[in-house]
Amino acid sequence: MSSLCNKRILVGVTGGIAAYKSAELVRCLANLGADVRVIMTSSAMEFIRPLTLQALSGHPVHSALVDSDAEAGMGHIELARWADVFLIAPATAHCIADLVHGKAASLLGAVYLATPAQVVIAPAMNQGMWHHPANVANMAVLKQRDVKVIGPTSGLQACGDVGLGRMEAPLEIAERIAEHFSTGILQGKQLIITAGPTREAIDPVRYISNRSSGKMGYALASAALDAGAHVTLVSGPVSLSTPEHCVVKQVESAADMHRAVLHACETADIFIAAAAVADYRCADINQQKIKKNAASMSLEFTKNIDIVNTVSSLHENLYIVGFAAETENVTANAKRKLKDKKLNAIVANDVSRHDIGFDADENEVHWITTQDDVCLPKKSKIQLARDLIICIANDFNKSKTGAVCDGVHNATSTDQ
Ligand code: PMT
Repeated sequence: MSSLCNKRILVGVTGGIAAYKSAELVRCLANLGADVRVIMTSSAMEFIRPLTLQALSGHPVHSALVDSDAEAGMGHIELARWADVFLIAPATAHCIADLVHGKAASLLGAVYLATPAQVVIAPAMNQGMWHHPANVANMAVLKQRDVKVIGPTSGLQACGDVGLGRMEAPLEIAERIAEHFSTGILQGKQLIITAGPTREAIDPVRYISNRSSGKMGYALASAALDAGAHVTLVSGPVSLSTPEHCVVKQVESAADMHRAVLHACETADIFIAAAAVADYRCADINQQKIKKNAASMSLEFTKNIDIVNTVSSLHENLYIVGFAAETENVTANAKRKLKDKKLNAIVANDVSRHDIGFDADENEVHWITTQDDVCLPKKSKIQLARDLIICIANDFNKSKTGAVCDGVHNATSTDQ
């Protein structure tokens, strides 16, 4: 069964008898590892109490479009941006008609208009309503807009009719949502991803390091797993939980990371170097804790080996993606690193900004190859990682066979 770890699912519940099944649906999504938030319409609350869905999702239910508490916390635009998938289940005939007309009088309608996430609906209604030409036409409009539809199924309905219109079973819906993330675009490929900082010891209790949290590298590992890859994650010291089904090598120093990467490279197809590796280490590590007797002190540094450079010299057939952490002339410096380090691609980010780059939840990058320079605008590192995995899979396949899979949303080409 696919996992929904690291996936943010916003469940919209509308007012039909099938609303009682949304409790089970929220539980199934959470059991698959998803972070679930719930929006209810006022009529949904006639069928099921928000407290039930709050208890199952672990978060307060959102219902009011204008709610001063919510606006201070997670208002409708934040909710719309937060979601990876907006799943409306059950979606009544009335809700479907409102979506078609873009009505934004309810929180659910406003989020539908505002969200960049994939929208999925699980319709539920009387069989006569489902087959009515008005509903058939509405469904056609939503499908044209790339709204994905799960169900309905056929059977005995709450009203006593028999036919199409029952909401799909909650477990089936949850599994279909999980499949949505399993792109398979790197099926069977072996990936090595480095993440996080390295620590270069000064003495037994002190070290030099940097602000890397590992979020970018770990998000790439999750996205690569969703794409069907086998992933070895070589991680510096971070406080993140390891993605499931991933081989993890924990390392401390640049020298440790170098050894672990060289070992894993033997069988790899793709190497993504997202770690912030220290360029220098102490020339001599003090064996004992340095005493604070002197009024000043100085340390001498020696250059570390460049891991990505060594790997590209040793493994000509390995597809290698570097990252460039820059504070000025971001793309120009990245392009120089692409060439100097003999990489297939480089991902450039501006680490002078506090809203992206080191330790932030979001990032904005340039995807750069010898042919392309594409800006992937600011979004969560989780979403960005999925876009980068599409770029990588596309370029990897092109380099091997000339084939291309799919495009990345919201990218701006700045090819010069
Ligand atoms: O971890 P987060 O908090 O989520 O932050 C993400 C990030 C900012 C760390 C990430 O997006 C990023 O930019 N990673 C690369 C950081 C870096 O070391 O950049 P650089 O420009 O100094 O190095 C260029 C490339 O050479 C990188 O792929 C790096 O892994 C590699 N390198 C650097 C030094 C070295 N001794 N060996 C290397 O392999």
